[in-house]
Amino acid sequence: MSSDIAIELINVKKIYRLTEEITVEAIKGISLKVHRGDFISIMGPSGSGKTTLLNLIGTMDKPSSGRIIIEGLDVTDLPESQLAHVRREKIGFVFQAYNLLTTLTALENVMLPMLLTGKYSESEAEERALKLLSLVGLEERAHHRPIQLSGGQQQRVAIARALANDPSFILMDEPTGAIDTITGSKLMALVKLLNETYGQTFIVVTHDPSVAMVAKKKYFIRDGLLYEGSEKSLHNFNASFSDSEINRILQAQLKLLLTDLKALKRRRTEGKISEKQYENLKSELKRKLNLLERSMRIEI
Ligand SMILES: Nc1ncnc2c1ncn2[C@@H]1O[C@H](COP(=O)(O)OP(=O)(O)OP(=O)(O)O)[C@@H](O)[C@H]1O
Ligand SMILES: [Mg+2]
Repeated sequence: MSSDIAIELINVKKIYRLTEEITVEAIKGISLKVHRGDFISIMGPSGSGKTTLLNLIGTMDKPSSGRIIIEGLDVTDLPESQLAHVRREKIGFVFQAYNLLTTLTALENVMLPMLLTGKYSESEAEERALKLLSLVGLEERAHHRPIQLSGGQQQRVAIARALANDPSFILMDEPTGAIDTITGSKLMALVKLLNETYGQTFIVVTHDPSVAMVAKKKYFIRDGLLYEGSEKSLHNFNASFSDSEINRILQAQLKLLLTDLKALKRRRTEGKISEKQYENLKSELKRKLNLLERSMRIEI
């Protein structure tokens, strides 16, 4: 399998069995390839299978048949212990209801996934979390608890948290469902920018056309079947950032990548990763640095 494929679904079906006689075929056979750096939206009405599909891709649920392959690893039949590892290391989640831990600050919410993998020391996790919060424009809210933040701010913390372990891709289920339209547009503008300048792969499911159209590749889901959408222009999408906001985001990305490089070198020196893992991770960081460098030349 080519290494630029983040996710591959092969004829995936999901049948819920309610009783002996009653079943619901929520996903009726979906095949899909998601490349690294893609920004995909899947739009569909209520009950069309959006959350079911996202849960399957996110390994929170198992398909009734078909295969799911994440970065070349067939995860379809993996035991829960290994799936938990895949989820922590490879997948970022953003839900409609933010799902932040209410007793932790924004900073602690973002640090937590990093501490759970053991990949980062506490000070590295804190440094990265601050950079991630700065990336989403919330450095000054680092010590606020979720209840002290607006809905849009909480969702930006959720994005920073999803980015915490530098996942292979981020899954978003109705990310703007609980916030107003303008805040929602601003949030999607941020996602678009992170995709364009940072190369982060996103899959967003939504019933909202104004959210779906921000994506580079659009799909529709109806009754458990997926259809590729037409390449429409983004004519209605007005939300954008000022030059200084873009500058701030790009600078934060650069600092984050440099922090990552430092942490990577530490793990290699301490023998925590093999030479091969080191080279792979380094080339991934380089890919992002190149992308960022190109964006900086264009934007600044
Ligand atoms: N655990 C379950 N048991 C049985 N049926 C289920 C289960 N979860 C979902 N379904 C059914 O599968 C279908 C798809 O549901 P899903 O939640 O994926 O839809 P959705 O597109 O996310 O809808 P919404 O926009 O309302 O969130 C629906 O008909 C739903 O009733
Ligand atoms: Mg849903």
